Amino acid sequence: MDPHGHLEPTVVVIFGGGGDLTQRKLAPALYNLFLDRWLPQEFAVIGISQQDFNDEAYRQRLREGVDHFSRRGKTKDADWDHFAPHIHYWSADFTDAGTYKKLSEYLGQYEKDRQTSVHHIFYLATPPSMIEVIARQLHQAQLLARKEHSRLVVEKPFGHDLDSARTLNRQLLGLMSEDQIYRIDHYLGKETVQNILALRFANSFLEPIWNRRYIHQVQITVAEQVGVEHRGGYYDRAGALRDMIQNHLLQVLCCIAMEPPVSFEANEVRSKKTDVLKAVRPFPREQMSQFVVRGQYGQGVLEGQAVPAYRQEPDVPGDSTTETYAALKLYIDNWRWQDVPFYLRTGKRLPLRVSEVFVQFQPVPHRSFPASAYAAWMPNRMAIRIQPEEAIQLRFQAKQPGPALHLRPVQMRFSYKESFQTPPPEAYETLLLDVIRGDATLFMRGDQVEAAWAVVQPILEEWSAHPPLDFPNYAAGSWGPEEADELLARDGRHWFAPEPGG
Ligand code: BG6
Repeated sequence: MDPHGHLEPTVVVIFGGGGDLTQRKLAPALYNLFLDRWLPQEFAVIGISQQDFNDEAYRQRLREGVDHFSRRGKTKDADWDHFAPHIHYWSADFTDAGTYKKLSEYLGQYEKDRQTSVHHIFYLATPPSMIEVIARQLHQAQLLARKEHSRLVVEKPFGHDLDSARTLNRQLLGLMSEDQIYRIDHYLGKETVQNILALRFANSFLEPIWNRRYIHQVQITVAEQVGVEHRGGYYDRAGALRDMIQNHLLQVLCCIAMEPPVSFEANEVRSKKTDVLKAVRPFPREQMSQFVVRGQYGQGVLEGQAVPAYRQEPDVPGDSTTETYAALKLYIDNWRWQDVPFYLRTGKRLPLRVSEVFVQFQPVPHRSFPASAYAAWMPNRMAIRIQPEEAIQLRFQAKQPGPALHLRPVQMRFSYKESFQTPPPEAYETLLLDVIRGDATLFMRGDQVEAAWAVVQPILEEWSAHPPLDFPNYAAGSWGPEEADELLARDGRHWFAPEPGG
């Protein structure tokens, strides 16, 4: 009996089950949910791909994935032996109607054997071109007909631009209802991203000051040390704006800037986030370079190791103009945020892996202490560290001990690790469990995805009309192109540097 409430029997069908995502993320997430007894008592996982595996070989492949990527480290035989029999593998063609006929028979039998209704989760861990193909086949095989019981999980990228996202939404909504579609943005599953909402809406002290009267600027940095790894083929068609800003950074922005929801009902939360995206001031085409900066890494040194330029990465053309770095300044035109600048930046091959939000408050309106006291004074600032060491830190002034009056900034710090002493679940654990439970709060609604594309669409168009002439323009291991510093310097500001270790 699972300790966390009864969940109906569930079959998770992973299209693309032989791929990387399943091995690195989905298998470890399912396994950890199983260990923590969050999964329904009766469940099955079917991986479907074209590769040739039998059940045994497939289970072994997933076990290697869990051993390597799970937050818990290596599997123990006794636990794995309980989990493994739930996993099956089919080598099949996604475009063949026979695959879906077989699936329909399997699911029908699974339900008959249990004499109760079973939830079906169809997880598309496939290239985007397969989304519509698989959804149509599922529809034709009547596998989406029971709205309450069948869900489709779609990975990013959801579309390539605003038009293609609209088309994909239209296609999917012709086959199933919005409530059945779970569009993943794995940042929303991160504990610390969810905790931004807890911080804002479960405490009373912040709300009165969380607005343009008290907040001077907001910065969101998502820095990665990795390059494009083995994903050059995909990445070169995407770039940092599509890969990170359109989804992850804009969703973090929504958590910071949204209005308080009336309830935590999925559509209420998602509507409040969508309102933020709709209020983003359109980027002016004629002055785009005043608001956005792009970059691509050249060769450099990271943690003492020489690393190649983006153009030398596997599957990347030697003259690629794809950006691996993007920074932008945006405004949210509403009562709460009018004229407060939000600076967003992300890049690959930066010196640290760190995701952090800085909320800087206004300077004090009047300095009451003698001028000499202010030598080290700094404005209040809240740092919300999303990863790696999840934490929230507040900077304020204290009087330095001693007979003279000197103010010095100090930090008040909340650390997840210290306070909760248990490692947070991986984003995919949270998200998979939410799909199983049928809770779409942390998933992107169709209009939300389109609103996010609408924000970046003018930049995409401008960049594609004017390819960069200066790439590569930052060295691997540096904090990005100089233009990104100038973007803030023009406003008399600078990027707040995350400290290694928080
Ligand atoms: C993915 C991007 O969505 O997010 C990758 O496609 C990126 O390019 C990854 O590396 C970052 O995720 P995380 O959880 O490691 O910050």
